[in-house]
Amino acid sequence: MKILFYDAKKYDIESFRKEALKYPEISIEYLETDLNPTTATLAKGYDAVCGFVSSDLGTEVINVLADEGITLLLMRCAGFNNIDLKKAKERNITILRVPGYSPEAVAEFAMGLALAVNRHLHKSYIKVRENNFSLAGLTGVNFYNKTAGIIGTGKIGAAMCRICKGMGMKVIAYDKYPNKSLDFVEYKEFEQVLAESDLISLHCPLTEENYHMINSESINKMKDNVVLVNTSRGGLVNTQDLIQGIRAKKFFGVALDVYEEETNNVFENREDDILEHSVVARLLSFPNVLVTSHQGFLTEEALAAISGTTLQNAMDFVNGTIKEENVVSE
Ligand code: NAI
Repeated sequence: MKILFYDAKKYDIESFRKEALKYPEISIEYLETDLNPTTATLAKGYDAVCGFVSSDLGTEVINVLADEGITLLLMRCAGFNNIDLKKAKERNITILRVPGYSPEAVAEFAMGLALAVNRHLHKSYIKVRENNFSLAGLTGVNFYNKTAGIIGTGKIGAAMCRICKGMGMKVIAYDKYPNKSLDFVEYKEFEQVLAESDLISLHCPLTEENYHMINSESINKMKDNVVLVNTSRGGLVNTQDLIQGIRAKKFFGVALDVYEEETNNVFENREDDILEHSVVARLLSFPNVLVTSHQGFLTEEALAAISGTTLQNAMDFVNGTIKEENVVSE
């Protein structure tokens, strides 16, 4: 099987090369460029393409891939909100993903972000490097005995609940389908979780229904001085409303690993005019805001699990032994 791998980063190549030694039937060509209607034509002659959550897999790209004879799309990630699933089905493209490669990787990162903004680590790192050892402005709060509100308690949210519990926090949560294995978590309505939490961490997928679930209305229902963490998807938060909330001093800290502009690759393109007008740049102007570039998943363990499952998905497709839980459909 010949796979064309888009948007290959150094860490992807290292991890896939290592794992591919176990799959002599598979050959992979790595491209630095990501998928778009033009680069999709390069897939001609390949059996499958490998994409990521940031790839353009809209209607036009799916059509081009299908025209070039692609029948298998291997997503090396869990999320798939960037794919036109209806078109993929219509054009007979099977989509396989890696549903739960390392929930702890993302949950640990979410807690890392929460601690960083709470204890101002992002500021103290810079200050000490500049020989400024003053503690002014660095006071945080204890998370111990405070309330963590987890929105979405699937694999990552459950891991986050366990971490918060381990830190001595009371853990409350909102999920449409409560996770019965979390007997220490008290499930409440969304509004109640907003109103009672000192730390709110988002761990639900982005759907049409919860697009902008964090907006002016929901922010108003939160406690003052709440810490908000989003490692899930940018579209869950209305960024303009968030900025208003930050300006109104609602938040003790805000930490975002994901944001609405991500698909425009504001950071990778780094064109001054894009950055100047971007809401990310506006967010970065607030001292109590920390933004990272969708790195929650990035641990050695997660990368090994991603490459292993992606290549096994490819072989399962060839052998007709696809695992249902890895199939993405409408
Ligand atoms: P999962 O499918 O195991 O859990 C999602 C949970 O959210 C489920 O329990 C579901 O019932 C719940 N849910 C769905 N809609 C909801 C709503 N409107 N309100 C409240 N709960 C809702 O997914 P998993 O593996 O825990 O991943 C969660 C999200 O984390 C992914 O969808 C993805 O967006 C994000 N993610 C971020 C990464 C990063 O590097 N920052 C890496 C991997 C995933």
